[in-house]
Amino acid sequence: MKPRDRLRIAMQKSGRLTEPALDLLNRCGLTFRQSRDKLFCFGEGEPVDLLLVRDDDIPGLIAQGVCDLGIVGRNVLDEFRCTASEDVAALTEWRPLGFGRCRLSVAVPQDMDYRQPQDLGGLRIATSYPGLLNHWLKAQSVDAAVVTLAGSVEIAPKLGTADAICDLVQSGGTLVANQLRETDVLLESEAVLAGPQALPTDERGDMINLLLKRLDGVIQVRESRLLLLQTSRTALDAVTRLLPGGPQPTLLPVAGQPDQLMLQALCAGEVSWRQLEEIKKAGAREMFVLPVEKMLA
Ligand code: PRP
Ligand code: ZN
Repeated sequence: MKPRDRLRIAMQKSGRLTEPALDLLNRCGLTFRQSRDKLFCFGEGEPVDLLLVRDDDIPGLIAQGVCDLGIVGRNVLDEFRCTASEDVAALTEWRPLGFGRCRLSVAVPQDMDYRQPQDLGGLRIATSYPGLLNHWLKAQSVDAAVVTLAGSVEIAPKLGTADAICDLVQSGGTLVANQLRETDVLLESEAVLAGPQALPTDERGDMINLLLKRLDGVIQVRESRLLLLQTSRTALDAVTRLLPGGPQPTLLPVAGQPDQLMLQALCAGEVSWRQLEEIKKAGAREMFVLPVEKMLA
């Protein structure tokens, strides 16, 4: 294959991952001359181009060296790793990306008497993930027949072509609509940045390292929250102890109320209602949780 000096990233052409993946790359400072109906997007600022393809094709394109990286669901990557022959280049998950969360689960008809995986013995299970399903069945020592379908897996029990299914679940709406009940989670999935285990040793490797650093910054900020609250000086210790992880909070005086303080804390992740309620109980009030847009330490 001809050596390339531009980095090429494979990405889902149209689907649940497309918009958030493009958004993430934009936040990393990558912009593209976009003809999104076409297969190729030319990178404008940095030497990074996009190839828009079917998500199932992404691991193969990386393994063949057609693309250097891919943004793909962990479910697709792991299915490829489960089924790829040994002479195929090893792929790895460089970063979890925090969107496109879903799970790969077994589900059975709502009226089926199911208690444990062994109850699947001798049954037919429809799936688009035969590699991951077979792997799980083996680990559970269950002998079941795997029926591989490209799509519309959820209606297989109704059509009589399978007794149970193994498919992606996000909201669970599709399962409910098909009178199915989720029983076992095989894999927790999300979009990941996938690539070869060994980075290219030329300029593309440098570009990948630069991209990884920017990604880390973007992901860190995206998950950060700024917590603002007011507290009395006497409750300060109790309030501070309950703050989610992060750097030391900043304290500011409140004009005209010498016993009160304004506290500002950067939190590493989401701050839940339950955490807020606990902090309030300890003596805080006027609490705000704000998203962080940019951060330069
Ligand atoms: C996925 C998956 C399920 C559904 C689950 O299909 O295959 O059918 O989403 O989502 P839910 O739990 O929110 O209902 P998708 O719509 O991505 O289409 P595809 O299977 O044809 O790729
Ligand atoms: Zn798909």
